[in-house]
Amino acid sequence: MYDFQIETAEKAELWRQLNDAADALTADEPDAIANMANVAALLWEALPDLNWAGFYRNVGGDPSTGSGQELVLGPFQGRAACIRIPFGKGVCGAAAATLQVQRVDDVHAFPGHIACDAASRSELVVPIVIGRALIGVIDLDSPLPARFDAEDEKGCLDLAQRLAPRLGKGTDEA
Ligand code: SME
Repeated sequence: MYDFQIETAEKAELWRQLNDAADALTADEPDAIANMANVAALLWEALPDLNWAGFYRNVGGDPSTGSGQELVLGPFQGRAACIRIPFGKGVCGAAAATLQVQRVDDVHAFPGHIACDAASRSELVVPIVIGRALIGVIDLDSPLPARFDAEDEKGCLDLAQRLAPRLGKGTDEA
């Protein structure tokens, strides 16, 4: 049984404990989907005020032309969600196309936001990258406006960077 006790009022400390737990959970497991599933569960349990936490995976297309490049739904917690997101579409697609973190205080003001759950008001999407190869994205949604701050962005980016090799291979490495 895994029983990570992550409870703290201080956000930087919460992310530190969460990322240490994610590191420990994935250390001996080579299967990327299993690791994503456990990390999604940890994020869901540890972070307050979320209505969705999980992964979209980069499944390919033609990186040289950008043609057919899309994200596909991966392991997550929350309500059933849209399955395929073309690069450049919505918040996740923007993160995939630019390889930049997308922190959106008000999703209703984000052009092309994809509403998988009408309750979502703010969103944080962090690309998972090895070198220049995109493995996928971590997507966190909240029913609260401006739920995510710079500390969340830093913590989630740290998670993505630490765990990237355990979450898959970039498609141009295959
Ligand atoms: N809102 C996202 C889609 C994924 S769901 O939030 C789970 C977007 O605009 O990319």
